[in-house]
Amino acid sequence: MARLVINETKKLGTIEPEVYGHFSEHLGRCIYEGLYVGENSDIPNVNGMRKDVVDALKEMKLPVLRWPGGCFADEYHWKDGIGEKSKRKKMVNTHWGGVTEDNSFGTHEFMELCSQIGCKTYVNGNLGSGTVQEMSEWVEYMTFDGESHMSNLRKANGAEKAWKLDYFAVGNENWGCGGNMTPEYYGNEYRRYQTYLRQYDPNKPFVKVACGANSDDYDWTDKVMKVCFEKTQPEQHGFMDMISLHYYTMPEGWEPKVSATDFDADLYYKTLRGAYKTEELINRHVTMMDKYDPEKKIGLAVDEWGTWYLVEPGTNPGFLYQQNTVRDAMVAGISLNIFNKHCDRVKMACIAQLVNVLQSVILTDGDKMIKTPTYHVFHMYRHHQGAELVESSLSGIGQTGEGDVKVPEITESVSVKDGVITITICNLSMNEAKTLDMQLAEDKDYEVIEASVVGGQDPHDYNTFDDPNKVVEKAYDGIKKTAGNKFTLSLPAASVVEIRLK
Ligand code: AHR
Repeated sequence: MARLVINETKKLGTIEPEVYGHFSEHLGRCIYEGLYVGENSDIPNVNGMRKDVVDALKEMKLPVLRWPGGCFADEYHWKDGIGEKSKRKKMVNTHWGGVTEDNSFGTHEFMELCSQIGCKTYVNGNLGSGTVQEMSEWVEYMTFDGESHMSNLRKANGAEKAWKLDYFAVGNENWGCGGNMTPEYYGNEYRRYQTYLRQYDPNKPFVKVACGANSDDYDWTDKVMKVCFEKTQPEQHGFMDMISLHYYTMPEGWEPKVSATDFDADLYYKTLRGAYKTEELINRHVTMMDKYDPEKKIGLAVDEWGTWYLVEPGTNPGFLYQQNTVRDAMVAGISLNIFNKHCDRVKMACIAQLVNVLQSVILTDGDKMIKTPTYHVFHMYRHHQGAELVESSLSGIGQTGEGDVKVPEITESVSVKDGVITITICNLSMNEAKTLDMQLAEDKDYEVIEASVVGGQDPHDYNTFDDPNKVVEKAYDGIKKTAGNKFTLSLPAASVVEIRLK
C-alpha cells in the first residue's frame, strides 16, 4: 500500500520564495506584447505594462523576475535602453529571430514592471560582449543615490530614487552563447567583473550570481567553484553568493524535436523522466559545491528550467512559442517538489519563460490572455513560498512508465507556515489513479482547510483563447479522514494535488 508519512515537527529549512521565480527575455513575444504594450496601446495598461497580465502575476504571487536574458543578456548594452524612447538605439536581436529590437523596454521599464507586480528584481549583466566599466556603471545607475554622473543620468531620465536591485548575474551561459568560455577563463573573468560591482547601500546589498553549468556539466560547476569560491575573510563567501544551473526538459535528447501537444505514452513518460532528472542533477552539482563550500554558504539558482518543444506550427521558429498541456503541469509539479526538498541549497529557480516563450504561465494573442496549466500549479504551490520544509517520505511506491522509460509513481513535498501544513503530491501515471494513505506525526485532530487539483484529465488537454478554462485549479474531493491525523487520498492519473491542513 502506498503511504506518505509526514513529520510536521521536523523542520528542514526555509523554502525561499525565489524558488518560485520566473524569467523574461527579449525573445519573441515575451517582453513586447506579453508584458509591455506601451502607453499608447489600446490594450489596457499601466505605464505600458499590460494590466491583465500584471494582475494574473500578482495573483500567482510571482516573487522574483530575471531579465533581460538569456542569450540576449550578453549582447545587451543597457545604455541603449534608457532616455527618450524615440531616440533609443535599434539593434538586431541576433539570437531570437533576427528581429529589430527598439529598446523601448529598458531598465526603467523593468523596474516599473517589477514594482507593479510587487516582485524582487534580478538583472543579468553582459560579460560576453560588454565591458567591466559598462557593467559597473549599470549597477551604479540602478543603485547609487549620491552625486555621480550615473546617478544624475538616472534622475534626468525620471527616476529620482535608486531602485532596489536584489540579484545581479555576471553573464549568462558563458560556456555557450555568452562567449564560449572555458570554466577557468570564465571564473577569472567573473572575479574581475564582480570586483567593480559595488554595494553602494550596505543595508540593501544585492546578491551576486555566477554563471553555472548547463545540465549535467559537473566539471563546469567544479572549476568555477574552485576559481571563484575563495574565502577572503571568515564571514565572507568570497566573490560569489550564488551559482546558477540551466536545465531544460527536452523529451528526445538535447534538441527540441517534438510537439508540445501531440505525444504518445512514450513521450509523456520521457518528458516526466526528464523533469525527474532534476533530482540527480541537483544532487551531483551540490556534491561539487560541497567540495568547496561544505557549510552551504552559497545558493544554487536554477535560473532557467522547463520544457522545450517544437514551436507551434506556423509561428516564428526564433520566437519559441509553445503550447502547455497537463503534461507541463506535471513537469512543474515534479520540479517544484524537488526544489522544495533541496531548499538547503536551491535558493532560487526561474522557469523559462514568463509569457509566450517555452513553458510559460501566460499566453497572449493581441488583447487576449490565458493562463496555462503551469500557471495553475504555480498558483497552487504559492503557499510553499517562505514556508519551512518538513520531513516527509513515501513508501510502497513503485515505478510507472512505458517500456523501459520509468519514473516514480508519486512525488511529494510538505511545508509548514503559520501553523498550516501544505502538502503537494503528483501522481505521475498517465492513466492509473492511485490510493495513498497519509499519516502525520502529531496526535491532533487535523482539518482540511483547502484542497485543490490541477489535471486528473486527459494529459493532452490545454487551454486556448476559445476555451481558456479546460485545465484549471479545481476543488479536490479525493481526501477522506480516517482518524485525527490519518487520511486516505485518491489521486487521479496525471494530477497535481494540493492539500492544506490545520
Ligand atoms: O530560454 C531560452 C534560452 O535558453 C536562453 O536565452 C538561454 O540562456 C538558454 O539557452
